[in-house]
Amino acid sequence: MKLILLGAPGAGKGTQATKIADRYGIVHISTGDIFRANIKAGTKIGLLAKSYTERGELVPDEVTVDIVKDRLTWDDCKNGYLLDGFPRNLFQAKELDTFAEIDGVVNINIDHKLLMDRLCGRRVCRECGESYHVSTLNGRTTCERCGGELYQRKDDNPETVDARLAVYNEQTAPLIDYYTEKGIILNFTGSEAPADVLFEEIKTVLDRLK
Ligand code: AP5
Ligand code: MG
Repeated sequence: MKLILLGAPGAGKGTQATKIADRYGIVHISTGDIFRANIKAGTKIGLLAKSYTERGELVPDEVTVDIVKDRLTWDDCKNGYLLDGFPRNLFQAKELDTFAEIDGVVNINIDHKLLMDRLCGRRVCRECGESYHVSTLNGRTTCERCGGELYQRKDDNPETVDARLAVYNEQTAPLIDYYTEKGIILNFTGSEAPADVLFEEIKTVLDRLK
């Protein structure tokens, strides 16, 4: 199964991606995670991506498209994959059409009023990537799952979240129509449902697609 996960920043793409990838044995490819790993390692791509991600802007298309195009040639993609955060504009979507055939686009709709609090309150484990909301941590600074240190992403601050939402509205939201016209969009609502409940809904639909 070859899938795309679409949704605003904080809609829950990463949270659902882990669950979907586990259930269907497909590889989770997050362009945001790839950029953060490159920034941490101080690579050339990381140096370039740093300024864009910290401002909440898109990393230039030619860099991003090349990364994904190469990543999809790896052996682990043979059983299928889940693209989280790519494509993010029409140019990227049209490029993707030239080197991949996508079976379904999981689109998580969410009330944008919820996103500022979700993102600014998010803490992420440096080791395993698990996310938490600060309101549930009771002062804890380590991960419940693996004991790793929790940190706040540099782009999870009010100013950058505003910029990320504006980019989503202008550049990414039009992809909903693009994939609706192709007949492969699968719409879900992520506003009220806890992550596990939303996953059950997604699973019911994806089981029919297998
Ligand atoms: P990226 O890392 O993709 O960030 P994003 O799209 O802004 O999305 P997030 O990862 O912040 O949110 P999410 O939807 O994964 O939500 P999560 O599951 O964590 O991109 C970062 C940057 O990289 C971009 O700004 C850009 O600069 C660059 N970039 C990436 N891709 C690019 C591309 N294709 N082209 C160019 N540039 C690119 O959930 C959020 C929080 O909510 C968590 O704390 C979670 O625990 C909680 N939560 C999740 N689900 C629920 C629920 N159902 N109920 C309650 N809480 C929930
Ligand atoms: Mg994410």
